[in-house]
Order: sequence, then C-alpha cells, then structure tokens
Amino acid sequence: MDRYCVFGNPIGHSKSPQIHRLFAEQTGQTLRYDPILAPLDDFAGAARAFFSEGLGANVTLPFKEDAYALADEVSERARRAGAVNFLMKRADGSLYGDNTDGAGLVSDLTANAGLDLRERRILLLGAGGAARGVIEYLLGQQPRALVIANRTVATAEKLAQHFADLGPVAASGFDWLSEPFDLIVNATSASLAGELPPIPPELIQPGHTVCYDMMYGKGLTAFNAWAEAHGAARTLDGLGMLVEQAAEAFLQWRGIRPDSASVLATLREQLLAGI
Ligand code: ATR
Repeated sequence: MDRYCVFGNPIGHSKSPQIHRLFAEQTGQTLRYDPILAPLDDFAGAARAFFSEGLGANVTLPFKEDAYALADEVSERARRAGAVNFLMKRADGSLYGDNTDGAGLVSDLTANAGLDLRERRILLLGAGGAARGVIEYLLGQQPRALVIANRTVATAEKLAQHFADLGPVAASGFDWLSEPFDLIVNATSASLAGELPPIPPELIQPGHTVCYDMMYGKGLTAFNAWAEAHGAARTLDGLGMLVEQAAEAFLQWRGIRPDSASVLATLREQLLAGI
C-alpha cells in the first residue's frame, strides 16, 4: 500500500491523518497515512527510515527547518520560506521539499472566505516560522501594503527585507500603528500561552476589518474573541488553512485535487462536538 505520514513532536493532536484519510476516501485512492512522532534530536533518522518505503510526508512543528535541510531539492517557495512542510520521494529516490502553508492560507482566504485581497491593507502579526511561510503568497495577492508587526521589531525588519522584491512589505512594532487595516492575520504563537499580541484596537475598523487567527479551537480563539469585541466584520480561524495546505499536498502526491470544503465542514462539526 502507498504510504504517507506526518512527522511532528508532539504529534498526537494532529488532524492531518484524518484529513488525508477523508481525501483518500472521497477520491477513491488507496493509501495509508500515519502520524509519526520523530525524536527531537533525530528528525533525519526518522525520515530516512520512513522513506525506505514511504512515498510522501507532511512535516509539522518543530521539524520544518530540519525537513528543509534534509530535502535534496526544494521548491522556490519553500526556499523563500526557509521551511518545508511537504516531502515527496522521487523515482530516483531523492527527496523533494515544498511548502504548502502559504497556498493553504490564501486558498482559505480567497476561495473559502471569498475575500479579494487586491489593493487591500494587510497586517501580519508575528515574524516567526508561521509568518515567514505565508508572506510570499500574501504578496502574490497584490495587496496595497503588507505590514509585518512583531514584538522583536528587528526580526520583522529582516523578514520584510527578505521579501521586499515581491511587493510592498514593511516592518513595524505593535504599537507604532494607528490606521485601520482591511485584514489582520495573527501568526504569533502568543495564543499558545493564552496571550494576545498587544496591538491597538483602532487597527480594527468596526464592521469592515476581517481578522484571521492561524490557530483554531473549539470556540473563538483568544485573538478572534478580542477582534469580535472590537467590532471585526468577520473572524476566521486556521482550520481552513490546515485543510487547504493538506489539499495542496494531496494534489502533488496523488495528482488529484480533493474537495476540501466537505472535509473542512466535517472537521468543523467534529471540533464543535468536541471529538
Ligand atoms: P512559529 O513557527 O509558530 O511562528 P516562532 O518561530 O517561535 O513560532 O515565532 C513565534 C512568533 O510569535 C514570533 O513572532 C514571536 O515574537 P518574537 O519574535 O518577538 O519572539 C511571537 N510571539 C510569541 N509570543 C508572543 C506574545 N506573548 N506576544 C506577542 N508575540 C509573541
């Protein structure tokens, strides 16, 4: 049987096995997809062992940079992101790495949520791996401006320079901003600690600004609850991005694009039911 997996540490919480099983069922593909807990100090060993038989892997925290280093060749977008969340064994046995996170976010924002980001002002909160993985795709939507705001401003500045040739991108501190944005994307890991990035509420224009938290949970995330309390027109969470990045991976592995909307609806129902 064709074997795929997702590597992470921890990995028990991962929804990727279920997403890919649903994609396989829906498209009539026969495959096996398992979660694999890789040791923190030996991702390469775990990956090599898997790829003696396996055909493809997703890679989640904290191994996306390790996967980038392991791949024999990476896509241009993975090189820009400096991270790989997708590995595929090629016919000659070499490993090809890609990054489908940015495409996943943009599909969720445009195809699922129906947003048109052209000429919009976008604020991206955070400048870590999660932010870096989506900047190329956000700029590809031709926004009027993309501002990367981070607690450590120097990191945001480095990122802005790294992507400057792709569009109008600038760096900022959280409290330097005062004009409202059309879209605010939270890519900080603050919510893991139950914290909020300290941005002024004036950045939300009541009834207009859309807020997107890359995290997701059963109810509103802390960031989205804050956004709604300040009048955000809509709040979206990262469950759609997760399903869309998986759909991109499935397409590359199997040559068929699954219907992600029905899988997203199933996952959302299960999340609300606490399954
Ligand atoms: P990830 O891969 O999830 O992006 P990361 O690379 O460790 O993880 O980056 C975490 C991001 O969340 C960083 O932008 C970090 O800000 P700093 O660069 O200043 O560390 C941001 N972050 C984490 N906790 C935060 C908090 N409590 N408030 C604001 N930003 C926070």
